[in-house]
Amino acid sequence: MGVDAITVEMGSLHLSNPTVLASGVHGSSLDKVLAALKFGAGAAVTKSIGPIPREGYPEPTLVEVEGGWVNAAGLPNPGAEKFSEQLAQVRGKGLPIVVSIFGGDSEEFARVVDALDGEDFRAYELNLSCPHVAGVGTEVGHYPEEVSRVTKAVKRRTRKPVFAKLSPNTERLVEVAKAAVEAGADGLTAINTVRAFPIDIETGSRALSNGFGGLSGGAIRPVALRCVYELRGALDVPIMGCGGVATWEDAVQFFLAGADAVQVGTSTIRKLDRFNEINLGILAYLERKGLHRLGDLVGAAHRGGLRGGTG
Ligand SMILES: Cc1cc2nc3c(=O)[nH]c(=O)nc-3n(C[C@H](O)[C@H](O)[C@H](O)COP(=O)(O)O)c2cc1C
Repeated sequence: MGVDAITVEMGSLHLSNPTVLASGVHGSSLDKVLAALKFGAGAAVTKSIGPIPREGYPEPTLVEVEGGWVNAAGLPNPGAEKFSEQLAQVRGKGLPIVVSIFGGDSEEFARVVDALDGEDFRAYELNLSCPHVAGVGTEVGHYPEEVSRVTKAVKRRTRKPVFAKLSPNTERLVEVAKAAVEAGADGLTAINTVRAFPIDIETGSRALSNGFGGLSGGAIRPVALRCVYELRGALDVPIMGCGGVATWEDAVQFFLAGADAVQVGTSTIRKLDRFNEINLGILAYLERKGLHRLGDLVGAAHRGGLRGGTG
């Protein structure tokens, strides 16, 4: 079976394969983004970039828990102006880089787009969903009206495709997603981290300097699958599934739930060179199941499984 079997078309965003580095887990340097592409990722998302530089929170910002990690880095990033200098280094290369952006309101998102849009990258991801920074992220992403304003402001300023990254920490997941799509979003990413509060029994208090953080890794995969399943049931737009993908088996679960591609985050902290392995596993699985292309798998759980069924 040829590698074309796993190419992905998500609107105008074409990927050579469905594995994508998730935003932020390696910090804001472009090096790890480029390394992920070398290791076979079909695309790679940058750290979320805001309108001005942010230092982030003091240590500890990351603690390991059963089945994953909880982080509260506080969105440290160099700011859009400085980050555009990093992007300038890959100008003309046509690399499948997706730039993640955040802001406190539609004007801040717009400022980031104005600073970055001339650079050479494929798409934007709107971080509407960080669970631990007051005033941005989730605070924006829980309100369909605000999501609509942000998405419209970004779409007005760019011709690049725009993905809205959603939070699982709301009962209004589908409502928020619909607001983004109606405002022009070309696709969705689901999910960001699950709001958490780890405790250190030695100090008797918070384990992260910020207290609240976001849970990621294998522990959140069933939650992420539920979100993708719900979104696919409600909307006919490209979806990148994200949350706890480490192996091809994990990725296949997301395709069955309705994702067109998967993002891989936490599992790359210890091993970044896992994209090729996941892609080869997906290809072998398609072959074993007698399927010709990845698209045949997408959303099969909504149709009663792989052998047809109840639809
Ligand atoms: C250390 C760390 C930093 C992250 N930074 C960002 C970020 O800047 N922007 C963003 O949208 N998501 C960020 N995320 C969330 C991931 O992109 C991803 O949505 C989440 O971790 C779930 O996927 P995973 O289980 O594969 O890690 C971060 C996650 C971690 C663990």
